[in-house]
Amino acid sequence: MSTIPGYTYAQVPAAPFTLHDLELLKQTVMFTDEDIAWLKKAGTILSDQIDEILDLWYGFVGSHPHLLEYFSKNGVPDQHYLQAVRQRFGQWIRDLCERHYDQDWLNYQYEIGLRHHHTKKNQTDQAQAAPMIHYRYMVAFIYPITATIKSFLAKKGHSANEVEQMHQAWFKAVVLTVVLWTYPYIKPGEF
Ligand code: HEM
Repeated sequence: MSTIPGYTYAQVPAAPFTLHDLELLKQTVMFTDEDIAWLKKAGTILSDQIDEILDLWYGFVGSHPHLLEYFSKNGVPDQHYLQAVRQRFGQWIRDLCERHYDQDWLNYQYEIGLRHHHTKKNQTDQAQAAPMIHYRYMVAFIYPITATIKSFLAKKGHSANEVEQMHQAWFKAVVLTVVLWTYPYIKPGEF
């Protein structure tokens, strides 16, 4: 079992969406078994670069006050909160690439959505930062999380085609998960 504080994979309530919903979403983002294989490969390439990736992403958030605000209390960044989330963020990179997208995975996507939404934000780390991440930034963040991963995928000498396939699989997987995370933001019956 993981020792990462607040990482409660396979220990959360059931998601309000089903594996069938996930299957149709996969078809909609053109996510196939080949993508699963490319993601596994990506996972092996990224696993020893996670700190550098997180340095880059945290640098991005830290250099944009409107994003850092979500980790801050009274305008002061909460270092404990930033650190606690960082460990789970690293685990998420592994999970995105390596986990089987089964019911446990689905349930944890719902949990992560709640943790960005005011339903559960701040609770896991007893933080007192902004009460929710606004929906618009959830969607917008797909771009930097995707664009910046490519150079890390390219660092181990794979061909341009292999890097591209891994990158496309990553992009699809991030879209898929962020769609699931936004469930709490959508009016009942409209998701
Ligand atoms: C593509 C969009 C995003 C991805 C992939 C992402 C990824 C993650 C991950 C993996 C976690 C930890 C989940 C866990 O508890 O296991 C997390 C939590 C968090 N993220 Fe995001 N995030 C996204 C959008 C954003 C945006 C736009 C912000 C704004 C700065 C943000 C701020 C936070 C905060 C404050 C937490 C802690 C939430 C809590 O209190 O539990 N995230 N994020």
